[in-house]
Amino acid sequence: MGTPIVAPSILAADFARLADEAKAVESTADWLHVDVMDNHFVPNLTIGLPVVQSLLAASSLPFDVHLMITDPRRWAPGYADAGAYNVTFHAEACDDPVALAKELRSAGAKAGLAIDRDTPIEPYLDLLPSFDTLLIMTIKAGFGGQRFVPDLLDKVRTARRHASAGHLELRIEVDGGIGADTIEQAAEAGADAFVAGTAVYGAADPAAAVTDLRRRAAR
Ligand code: DX5
Ligand code: ZN
Repeated sequence: MGTPIVAPSILAADFARLADEAKAVESTADWLHVDVMDNHFVPNLTIGLPVVQSLLAASSLPFDVHLMITDPRRWAPGYADAGAYNVTFHAEACDDPVALAKELRSAGAKAGLAIDRDTPIEPYLDLLPSFDTLLIMTIKAGFGGQRFVPDLLDKVRTARRHASAGHLELRIEVDGGIGADTIEQAAEAGADAFVAGTAVYGAADPAAAVTDLRRRAAR
């Protein structure tokens, strides 16, 4: 397990002021979590590559791109080419996750595999050496502001055990309902990267909220 990473999700930010909202957490955040939704894989629509490219040019943070889209093989490499630090796609949307992970890594990005609420982790454990990040949804993917589902931390425990036994260098990231009252149990389960939308951008001081979350995760 690495030192805790906190990744504010701009899904909870003001989309008319994305560059400023990214700047607001630049001094304290580790990564900027960017949710790409296509109204197909999930019933919600956000932004795509052109907006992410512009935002990359406006921020010095490493971008953690979370693709909630069908056909990630068509789109994911473009985010790596654009300079995203980590590109995560959903296991449910890809028939050859290892091939896409290779492509992302050879384009210079970290490769992430995301597991939605209703997907078991076991079938994917053997693929983990091909990935840098495993994103375990702690809600159903699609919308911010949902309530954290503690039972889903069992998947984090299973994955962390597997990663430790295999000496894998794997970030295990949790996404959904992470805040001051849930981050400690997620860290205890073995997560070491934490996405937070509402808990950061809904706070009076987003930069301070990030620092507070990291401190709680490290306890
Ligand atoms: C939802 C997104 C999350 C979302 C989390 O599908 O993947 O990143 O922004 O929002 P909160 O932290 O508000 O639950
Ligand atoms: Zn996300």
